[in-house]
Amino acid sequence: MSRALATASSRTQPVLPVGLDAARLPAHVAVIMDGNGRWARRRGLPRVMGHREGVEALKRTLRLCSDWGIGALTAYAFSTENWNRPGEEVSFLMTLFERVLARELEGLEREQVRIRFLGDLEPLPPGLRELIANATARTAANSGIHFNVCTNYGGRAELVHAARRLAEQAARGELDPARIDEELFAAQLHTAGEPDPDLLIRTSGEQRISNFLLWQLAYAELHITDVLWPDFNEAALTTALLDYQNRQRRFGGVAPTPHQP
Ligand code: FPP
Repeated sequence: MSRALATASSRTQPVLPVGLDAARLPAHVAVIMDGNGRWARRRGLPRVMGHREGVEALKRTLRLCSDWGIGALTAYAFSTENWNRPGEEVSFLMTLFERVLARELEGLEREQVRIRFLGDLEPLPPGLRELIANATARTAANSGIHFNVCTNYGGRAELVHAARRLAEQAARGELDPARIDEELFAAQLHTAGEPDPDLLIRTSGEQRISNFLLWQLAYAELHITDVLWPDFNEAALTTALLDYQNRQRRFGGVAPTPHQP
């Protein structure tokens, strides 16, 4: 991302904040970037200024995750429900996505970021769809962090879409329904090929999943912070990662005890 990512330090030896264990970083971090509107209102600014500042927070987060060796960052930029916002705000967001993509593509390429947009992209404005297709193609072979931007994304819609794809294959006689298992199902999701997020960060204090990655977050650790998204910075990300590293992940099993044979 032009200025921000261009300053990223060498990827060979990440310098992590004190206390973070490089060997136990999440491979995949997901973020619900909430609180842009409140950030703007507190400053007496129009809501859209919060979104503009939110882009800066996203660039910071991407650069930090990339620098620290986190494999994937998935951000919830626009939900299927966000079309219900005032028309002016929706148009602002679409134009913002276009501008950001056009402006940042060169930096993403330089920094080896692989960007993908997850969701139903059909209803997006044609200009944005073109930019998305171009950015996706131009960064597809990049070796760095996977940056997924969920745009017109809804978790339930994604599950329905996956179920329909499998049903169509079965109806054509190409798939025996008895063969459908979790792996086959996950291969039909927008996130196919990506490991599930280990950590979900939600800003601005709301304690909800909001139709985000319903399948993929099954075993994610949740970190909810009162920080508003535009204020999300290195300290806030470090706090989230330290919180994650203090959790004991059991995936439905039991915690190992020192006395177990
Ligand atoms: C939620 O805050 C934020 C959004 C709906 C938009 C987030 C989008 C970006 C930061 C831009 C990302 C752009 C690209 C191209 C990667 P809110 O409006 O719900 O805040 P509120 O809850 O305080 O009202």
